[in-house]
Amino acid sequence: MSDTPQQAETEAGTKAPTAKETTQTSAAATPTAEDAPAKLVVKKGIAWIHLDDPQKSVNTLSTRYFQWFEAQLEALAAQPLKAMVFISDKPGYFIVGADIEELQAFDDPAQVLEVIRRGHVFTRRFADLPFPVIAAIDGVCLGGGLELALACDYRIATDAPHTKLGVPEVQLGLYPGLGGTQRLPRLIGVPAALDLILTGKQVSARKAKRLGLVDEVCHPSVLRQAVAKVVGWGKPGTEDSVPQKKAKSSFSKMAGDLLARTPGAKRLVYDKARQTVLKKTGGHYPAPLKAIEVVKEGMMLPLDEALELEAKGFSELVVTDVAKGLISIFFAKNEVEGRAAKIAKGSRHVDHVGVLGAGFMGSGVAQVLAYKGYQITLKDRDHVALGRGLKHCNNLFAELVKRRKLTPVEQKLAMSRIVPRIDYEGFERVPFIIEAVFEDVDVKHEVIRQAEAAGSDDMIFASNTSTIPIGRLAEASKRPENFIGMHFFSPVHKMPLLEIIKTKKTSKSTLATTVEIGRRMGKTVIVVNDGPGFFTSRVLGPFVNEALWCLSQGASIDQIDRALTGWGWPVGPLALLDEVGIDIANHAGEVMREAAGDRIETSPIFQRMIDAGRLGRKGGRGFYDYSSKPKKVDASVYGVIGWQEGKVDKEEIVERCWMQMLNETALCIEDGIIENPNDIDIGVIFGFGFPPFRGGILREADKLGLDYVVGRLETYAAAYGDRFKPAQLLSDMAKQGKTFHS
Ligand SMILES: NC(=O)c1ccc[n+]([C@@H]2O[C@H](COP(=O)([O-])OP(=O)(O)OC[C@H]3O[C@@H](n4cnc5c(N)ncnc54)[C@H](O)[C@@H]3O)[C@@H](O)[C@H]2O)c1
Repeated sequence: MSDTPQQAETEAGTKAPTAKETTQTSAAATPTAEDAPAKLVVKKGIAWIHLDDPQKSVNTLSTRYFQWFEAQLEALAAQPLKAMVFISDKPGYFIVGADIEELQAFDDPAQVLEVIRRGHVFTRRFADLPFPVIAAIDGVCLGGGLELALACDYRIATDAPHTKLGVPEVQLGLYPGLGGTQRLPRLIGVPAALDLILTGKQVSARKAKRLGLVDEVCHPSVLRQAVAKVVGWGKPGTEDSVPQKKAKSSFSKMAGDLLARTPGAKRLVYDKARQTVLKKTGGHYPAPLKAIEVVKEGMMLPLDEALELEAKGFSELVVTDVAKGLISIFFAKNEVEGRAAKIAKGSRHVDHVGVLGAGFMGSGVAQVLAYKGYQITLKDRDHVALGRGLKHCNNLFAELVKRRKLTPVEQKLAMSRIVPRIDYEGFERVPFIIEAVFEDVDVKHEVIRQAEAAGSDDMIFASNTSTIPIGRLAEASKRPENFIGMHFFSPVHKMPLLEIIKTKKTSKSTLATTVEIGRRMGKTVIVVNDGPGFFTSRVLGPFVNEALWCLSQGASIDQIDRALTGWGWPVGPLALLDEVGIDIANHAGEVMREAAGDRIETSPIFQRMIDAGRLGRKGGRGFYDYSSKPKKVDASVYGVIGWQEGKVDKEEIVERCWMQMLNETALCIEDGIIENPNDIDIGVIFGFGFPPFRGGILREADKLGLDYVVGRLETYAAAYGDRFKPAQLLSDMAKQGKTFHS
């Protein structure tokens, strides 16, 4: 990242200001302070505001910008200028959003309101300037960055792949608070604006042009020429302006205005948006609902009043637990990914990966790797299995073509990178193997021996086992230092987590190379130590097991799954068991029991379901019947498991399940499997959907207080036995008044 405007502009492909220009840097302007977040360069009547905060690797909108700009304004207005242009000197980034750290510090909505009002004054000033104000966007332009651009008279965006526009605040439990909820619908119409605000999706410059969000799209090398053209359009609303250039947005605006005033259409759009949000979020996230309200009401008001309405709603959202939880995940993810990047330093170069097993997981891994440009040799036992695997890959690529993420030609190219085999010919040229054959130690041992016999001496071997200790699998390896676990989650192309398991013998270079491949696959990587079930499978087991104990006590299937989805899980534990396969989950439990002995008290329902051939979705029947859509609870299960109706409170079901997971997490920490609280919270959220708005399992425990948690575990232990016995770590931390996160 460059520090000077000169270097950065050259990298961004635009013309760099000369030394002379920089010294012309007006009398008008700049606080000379070295740490000013922007620099003002005036050239040929155009005031260029070079965004380049020296305190940050990327530009984020903060009060420092407001202060800096306020200091420039008077002088700017007094100059005979033709235009003012915001442009970034950080290659690949315009402004990536508001400064979240600044926001996170607030506990009082009144303080937030004050800052937002200041931001509104800042952006409203653009309108008062007698010349056009232009955002020249080359790079990521999100959140507060896009809101700044929206307040400008014109927006030009480059067609470079790094240029992305959007308002992702909803992912942080917020909505756009710097005019986004008001300027966006006024510019592109209510339906398109709601789509961007409620999903947080990012769009390319071309899509933005189609939406009416930007006025011009150009190649980065001609950004300055494009600015010159737009300057010629004049200040909107003045006599000299050229009104026809914004035909698309005028149409959108008209449609938006119409919607805002027509009761029937209004109801249709806003009600539908509300229903979609409720269906997707179960009502756990206040921000999108509040955003709909604020857009709806704001569209009936003059802009100033609408902005005030937006500011008030925003300031209330910032201090909610949901926003705080989601913001904490944002920071945790950055921290985890930063640590993974450091571990990956010194990785070996790999461009060819051998995938053993073309089943559900193997083909999923192969597809993602091929998508990311790796050459793949995909091996299975026979042509039928290989054919199935290749078809799965092709279907996943076809889906990408449908979503316009790939062209049909790129699809063909990606598929051509996957070479199928039923033998090990050519494996001496494959530097990295990922194994995804059956979850059986003997089968895996055989495959390890065969692959090592065929491969080169420095080949790395990674197993995608979901439960078997990596050390146990490495017993069959001649080179345990090159052996590692690579635990993907299903479906591989969608799930963001990769759990990498190192043993005491795994070498640094093996770990670095494996982490780098995970990162290149686009995964958030956590690294854990070896043990049965590692971290994620180990803590998921007691969670689903406890749900079965609740079932044994007479809670119904529906009650259990609803209780947990009502708490924010994406699916209930019994539906999850059906997805995983009840036999597979039971097998995982056996591996765990082997290591943990009596501590794990497995529900007898597992075996009863397996004996009755009810293995879950793959067999058409588990706790649910999948013969018709949507799936229905299969009432005949109750006979199979010898169920008798009883009463277990909803709150108790929820607490017993997640606290079992927490207790096992604490035991994992005691056993040295995992240590970093961020790895744990990211692991449970990204691995299997622990409710994100709770900020992770440790944040949830911290929020409730560990003394409360330990008290509940002791109560359940007295009622249901030792499986609830609090981990020593929890008891000690509770006594000392400690929390997991500081
Ligand atoms: N399914 C999941 O959700 C999931 C998640 C994480 C990890 N895993 C792990 O991934 C692995 C594979 O699981 P899956 O669900 O893809 O199973 P699967 O049954 O769909 O696929 C296994 C494949 O391995 C092939 N195979 C068996 N022996 C082989 C051999 N000697 N050489 C080459 N190929 C061979 C089979 O023909 C089959 O195609 C298991 O270890 C499992 O625990 C699964």
